[in-house]
Order: sequence, then C-alpha cells, then structure tokens
Amino acid sequence: MKLLLLGSGGREHALAWKIAQSPKVEKLFIAPGNAGTSLVGENVAIKADDFEAIAQFVRDQQIDMVVVGPEDPLVKGIYDYFFENLSDVPVIGPSKAGAVLEGSKDFAKAFMKRHNIPTAAYQTFDGTQVEEGCKYLETLKAPYVLKADGLCAGKGVLILETLEEAQRELREMLGGMFGNASSRVVIEEFLSGIECSVFVLTDGKNYKILPEAKDYKRIGEGDTGLNTGGMGSVSPVPFATPEWMAKVEKEIIAPTVNGLREEGIVYKGFIFFGLINCDGQPKVIEYNCRMGDPETESVMLRLNSDIVDLFEGVAHENLDECAIEFDERAAVCVMCVSGGYPQAYEKGFTISNAEVEGSVVFHAGTAIKDGQLVTSGGRVIAVSSYGKDKAEALAKSMSGAQQIQFEKKYFRRDIGQDL
Ligand code: AMP
Ligand code: GLY
Repeated sequence: MKLLLLGSGGREHALAWKIAQSPKVEKLFIAPGNAGTSLVGENVAIKADDFEAIAQFVRDQQIDMVVVGPEDPLVKGIYDYFFENLSDVPVIGPSKAGAVLEGSKDFAKAFMKRHNIPTAAYQTFDGTQVEEGCKYLETLKAPYVLKADGLCAGKGVLILETLEEAQRELREMLGGMFGNASSRVVIEEFLSGIECSVFVLTDGKNYKILPEAKDYKRIGEGDTGLNTGGMGSVSPVPFATPEWMAKVEKEIIAPTVNGLREEGIVYKGFIFFGLINCDGQPKVIEYNCRMGDPETESVMLRLNSDIVDLFEGVAHENLDECAIEFDERAAVCVMCVSGGYPQAYEKGFTISNAEVEGSVVFHAGTAIKDGQLVTSGGRVIAVSSYGKDKAEALAKSMSGAQQIQFEKKYFRRDIGQDL
C-alpha cells in the first residue's frame, strides 16, 4: 500500500514511525513532514490544508489511504473534500461535521448533554448576552472557567481566580479578544482532579481503545508557569485501572460513538477524550478530533498491533474484526524545547547527537538547512523510552534529552513523577 500522512509535528513523526513498521506499507509519504519524518518516509512539500494539491498528489502517486494528523485539515473538511472528489481513497479522520466536536466547544458541550455524557455544568453566551453571562458567573464558585467556542491554538481557555477578573475577561472575549473564535463563550463549572487522555479509533460503528496517556502542559517542573503544547507524556496512567476504564467506556466512549452515529455524523478516525478524574468519576473536559501531541509519542510505543491493519478496519468499517494489543511496559516522552518557548524563541540552532541508543527520538520542530539538522519550532525534539516502570522510562528519556544538543535547549525532568 501507499500511504500519505498529513502534518509536521512530533505526533506525525510518531505516527509515521508506527505506520512504517507495517509490512503492508510499500511507500509512506508525509506532507509536509519534518526532518524526522524523512527518516521513515518521504516528505512532500505540500501544506496539510491544501486540499487540491493533496488530491492531485494522491492521484499522481496512486495513494491508497490518507491519514490526517492535525485538526486543522479535519475542521476545514478534508474528509468531505475527498468523499466528493476522490471517494475511492479512504481518509482516516472525521468528516467536517465530526470535527466540530473539537472545532466548537459549545457543540461539544451540547452533544454531551444530549447523550448524558458526564462533563462540567455549563452555559454558552454570545456578544448580545454579556450581562447574562456575568450573572451566570455569579452563580458559580471560583475558580471560573471561560472557553472561547472556536479553535484558538490551545489559548482559548481562561481559568480565573476572582469573579471580577472572570467578568472582565468575559467582556473582552465576547468583545473580540480571539476574533471570531470567541464570538461565543462557554462558561463552565471548574472541575478538580487529575487529567488523562484516552484515545479511540472508530469506524463509525465499532471502536478500539488505544493505550491512555497523561500529558504535561505547563512549561515548568511541578506543573508551574505558562501552558505549552505539551512538555512530555507518560503511558500507562496508574489511576486508569480496568474498573475506571470500564466506566469511561460505558459512560463516555460508547455514548459518544453511538451518539455520533445516531446523529448521522460521519466519523472514521481518532477521538481524543480529554478526561478528568473527579473522585473516581471520569468526566470529559474536551474532545479533540485527532491524536494528542505529545501523547502519541508515548502511546505509539505501547501499541503492538499493526496500525495500518487498524486503519484498514476503519476504512472498511470492520474494525471489530481487528485485534488490538498493547505493550505492557511503561513509556515516557520528554520534549526538548527551544529556550523562551512558549513565548518568543529563536529558530535555526544546529542540533547534534540526535540519535539516542535505547530510546526512540521523534522530531517536532526540526528542519534540514544546508545539510544540517536545525531547530525550526518551539517544541523541537522528543525522546521516548520504554521502561519496566515509568521511573525507568523517564530516566532513559532524560538521559537522551541530556545527550541531544542545541543552543538554549530546555526540558522538564519530572514527567510522570506526580503519578
Ligand atoms: P481544553 O482546551 O478544554 O482542554 O482546556 C484546556 C485546559 O484547561 C484543560 O486541559 C484543563 O487543564 C483546563 N480546564 C478546562 N476546563 C476545565 C474545567 N471545567 N475545570 C478545570 N480545568 C479545566
Ligand atoms: N496534548 C494535548 C493536545 O494534543 O491537545
């Protein structure tokens, strides 16, 4: 088979690494990819949301399947574009209607309410309802959670300590702080607990649950400082016991997949459930229509099955006939970032010692310039390792992160230590 994977981050390198292991794959292309994906496949200089150029490439190269990494092309409707223009080539990813689970917080909340899926209490307000929104905030307890309805590259959620701040920020958000994305704002109850990411691959009817993971979003050790795209991840998550996962499946996963089908929403791809454990009760914080980054960089290590078999199960809607097997070992991913990230940082630093024995290195923001491997993003390169437990996996990933060299490198040393 010939496959085309869309995207260019650490998640895509991890997916490409896993796809390339399948004996079914004769050729793997990644568009646009990064320096790491070019080690396991062939990069193509096409943007992941340039549907026409992607379709042309798929025709020219007789690609058999397209796998979508990031949310952007999904929210913009790549599934539907192919369905209309090249319907014999399956796209692994939801339709535009399905991607709205990530693209609109209000849609996701209303969907959960319709299907009795446990989540925080909420109400949504638009620009004509600022005063009603401020009054609703008065009925809640601190801290206050405000969410821009639309995609904001991970910056659309504000958690505020006082009512005054929350009311002020609400006015700003509805006044256009995030442009159109905050023309509606979801205000929701604050939930306290530990978060866990659960991933499912569905063909619209059947589903398979992948290994769960926890990501570490803050820049500083001990979960301090600014939010980032993710500084590392660990799988498995100790509180995700078989009993807890059974609850997640019964109360969250099955009603979501069934709800999508009942509502006639075509969904053939990954669903990322951002969950929080509230005294043993799993609740949904958010849905994403793709895999997590950097969760994929530990989850792929723990997936023993051939991922291309699973993708074929999705395409042919017989995922129930596929087996899914996990590696019992722990996996920890440590992300090396460029100093200054998530605020201003420089690019173009030379990277050396990027091959780490005994670990798997996934590139995120890397490029080749004048034959040299250089940094090209804030999150630069991730080191993922197996261990008999998370402590051993972390020790290996940290030693790899130490070994890789580039100017102003920074990484967290405490991934998975709180669990
Ligand atoms: P989201 O983009 O919805 O995942 O929100 C970003 C982050 O904000 C989440 O990963 C949580 O850490 C936090 N968050 C979102 N909603 C809530 C909530 N209702 N209660 C507590 N924390 C939340
Ligand atoms: N790691 C969280 C995300 O991918 O959104």
